[in-house]
Amino acid sequence: MPSLESIKKAPRADGFASILAIGRANPENFIEQSAYPDLFFRITNSEHLVDLKNKFKRICDKTAIRKRHFVWTEEFITANPCFSTFMDKSLNIRQEVAIREIPKLGAEAATKAIQEWGQPKSRITHLIFCTTSGMDLPGADYQLTQILGLNPNVERVMLYQQGCFAGGTTIRLAKCLAESRKGARVLVVCAETTTVLFRGPSEEHQDDLVTQALFADGASALIVGADPDEAADEHASFVIVSTSQVLLPDSAGAIGGHVSEGGLLATLHRDVPQIVSKNVGKCLEEAFTPLGISDWNSIFWVPHPGGRAILDQVEESVGLKPEKLFISRHVLAEYGNMSSVCVHFALDEMRKRSAKEGKATTGEGLEWGVLFGFGPGVTVETVILRSVPI
Ligand code: CAA
Repeated sequence: MPSLESIKKAPRADGFASILAIGRANPENFIEQSAYPDLFFRITNSEHLVDLKNKFKRICDKTAIRKRHFVWTEEFITANPCFSTFMDKSLNIRQEVAIREIPKLGAEAATKAIQEWGQPKSRITHLIFCTTSGMDLPGADYQLTQILGLNPNVERVMLYQQGCFAGGTTIRLAKCLAESRKGARVLVVCAETTTVLFRGPSEEHQDDLVTQALFADGASALIVGADPDEAADEHASFVIVSTSQVLLPDSAGAIGGHVSEGGLLATLHRDVPQIVSKNVGKCLEEAFTPLGISDWNSIFWVPHPGGRAILDQVEESVGLKPEKLFISRHVLAEYGNMSSVCVHFALDEMRKRSAKEGKATTGEGLEWGVLFGFGPGVTVETVILRSVPI
């Protein structure tokens, strides 16, 4: 029988965890942002709220979003009138859709990540599934295991209701798991849908218009593991060097969400961009001082594109050149705010664009980079990444 000591000394990975593959998925249905105000007010029978519609148009125009993908369709909303009101009882149907669609969307992204990885599924030892939609028992992690036919002894972690910072949280947890055991391979899946928060406009709750203008549906998947097996054609895209999570001072209540019979109602205070941008410098200093880096233009950037104003104010507060946030702005423009999913899309864009432009590394030719998750709390996840040569 093995001694406790030998169990404790079971080999850990030698190196840092790396991102070995990235997959992504969006529902087929998408709506151009320029057409969204007309569609939104029409399908929620709110055309008579002329001033509110004009305000919504102004907000949509300022989001810098070009299109968003959705699981729901116009036909679905009109067939379910509880979505057209602000707070009618609607949780049952929202749950039904999310519980059905979230594992499917996640499986599509995971299948692509596994294809790119090129290894047998049986090598997956852990699964982290993250979503803000459709709590269930057993959860979306279980459903995904069934859809993909993963081993029953895959060790699962289900993260519900974390919000937009969780793209960073999943990387932090995956790093811990991947480095804790030699040969561990962690499948990370994030999947999000606005089915939980779509609702008709209300004159009394105009702040919800921002939520309706920003959020979108999508899924991402990563394979994370240490010590890539080059002989088996396993390669890293980014090395996960260090991770941290912090609650920002004086930020209580600025970003939040409450689930009730009427669905998920999000709170986004006007000062979110200011709270985030004011604190980003300190997060950078704490993360990069040990590496002797203090020029924020010398690293590549993957911040969560929570909203155009957040990116604008972060850029200004740390003195970034405009091209630094190109990737995050691109993800926001083409997909909207997909919550936890966005930063994984941005990583995929970063490595693909770097290759296309003939850059020397996956991080726009640079060595070091930062990924930021921003979300409820206000919580910031900071991940230091090292690119790899292309
Ligand atoms: N609440 C209510 N109304 C708001 C608002 C807010 N948070 N922010 C802006 N508005 C209103 C303004 O009052 C203005 O209304 P009027 O035209 O009637 O005057 C209108 O929206 C447009 O505002 P601005 O002209 O000031 O335009 P802007 O440059 O601020 O752009 C925006 C608007 C695109 C919404 C921008 O403010 C933005 O990107 N904000 C950040 C949104 C945000 O908080 N994102 C975080 C999402 S949370 C997340 O990602 C994590 C999670 O877990 C949920």
